[in-house]
Amino acid sequence: MRKSKEKFVFKDKVALITGAGNGFGQEFAKEACRRGMKMMLADIDEHDLLRTQKWVIDNGGVAEVIVTDVTVEDQVEAMVNATMEKFGRIDLLINNAGIAFGGEVYELPSNEWEWIFHANCMSHIYSMKRVIPIMDKQGTPCYILNVTSLAGLLTMDEMPAYYSTKHFATSLTEAVYYDVQKKGMNIKMSVFCPSYVYTDLHHCMRHRPPQYTIPDDPFLKSEPYFREIKKAEEVITTGTPLDPVGPFVFDAIEKGHFYIQLHPKTKIIIKHFSKDVIKERNPDYKFMKAAVAVDKNRATLKDLVYLLTHL
Ligand SMILES: NC(=O)c1ccc[n+]([C@@H]2O[C@H](COP(=O)([O-])OP(=O)(O)OC[C@H]3O[C@@H](n4cnc5c(N)ncnc54)[C@H](O)[C@@H]3O)[C@@H](O)[C@H]2O)c1
Repeated sequence: MRKSKEKFVFKDKVALITGAGNGFGQEFAKEACRRGMKMMLADIDEHDLLRTQKWVIDNGGVAEVIVTDVTVEDQVEAMVNATMEKFGRIDLLINNAGIAFGGEVYELPSNEWEWIFHANCMSHIYSMKRVIPIMDKQGTPCYILNVTSLAGLLTMDEMPAYYSTKHFATSLTEAVYYDVQKKGMNIKMSVFCPSYVYTDLHHCMRHRPPQYTIPDDPFLKSEPYFREIKKAEEVITTGTPLDPVGPFVFDAIEKGHFYIQLHPKTKIIIKHFSKDVIKERNPDYKFMKAAVAVDKNRATLKDLVYLLTHL
């Protein structure tokens, strides 16, 4: 019987973290270091990846790096193999690398859909299909954290590619977690579902892999493209501070929380969204907008009245 209620212990364990060059990934690497983990750090951006590695080493930790484009299955396989060769085990897998952009379904070229689908969804499949058998064989308490988003729990307007890929990643994690429980594997899982945090996410276009790069792509000169870049900058740079993310998420892993939510005020939107489904009522654009205004501390009296009368 390999199933266990043991708490996940970080010290001396091995973490594999994708998207470790910036934002959440960098904070997870710092927290893993503070908690005495050894780690393999992966990112498509070598310069940023080396910066994170330097921080860990300067702070007395152990970090190896591998430049990896998580949208390419062979590269994810090489990342997992390199971790095993270096450390001989994987105790914590963090599927964090991801991208975000807006644009309506009739505006975004299929190339953009394919890129975001591979970055936010296929990447999780490529790693989990290799890492779960390794963890199962180890038999000791292991953990998989998939970074999805609040956008993986509810849907709003203007970012259909982001919402749909993040829903995919959340339900993939839920489905895999059922299997892991059913088979009695000693693996716990979580989804991290934050609202906006100030990271480098609004610059994700700089991480476009060559296979999704079209020479002189007319989309990259179009009005929807620039409009969405501007909006992304607005929402990400007014997001909550990044510093608390590492300790907050690792504490939640320690407690074994499946749904990790950094922004408790957004629960009102999740509740409303679930009620829509149960009551078979239509998604309410006005409610969502008012709830976001509350989350951003800029709700008007009209927003509050609307929320209270439509709960
Ligand atoms: N920042 C937010 O407000 C927010 C909110 C909810 C969810 N998220 C999710 O958090 C995750 C991390 O985002 P972040 O906000 O830290 O952004 P970020 O841009 O600061 O960091 C993302 C990292 O992923 C790397 N990356 C991008 N494409 C890659 C690829 N193909 N292969 C390997 N690495 C790649 C980037 O180089 C970068 O270092 C993403 O999945 C994002 O969707 C972010």
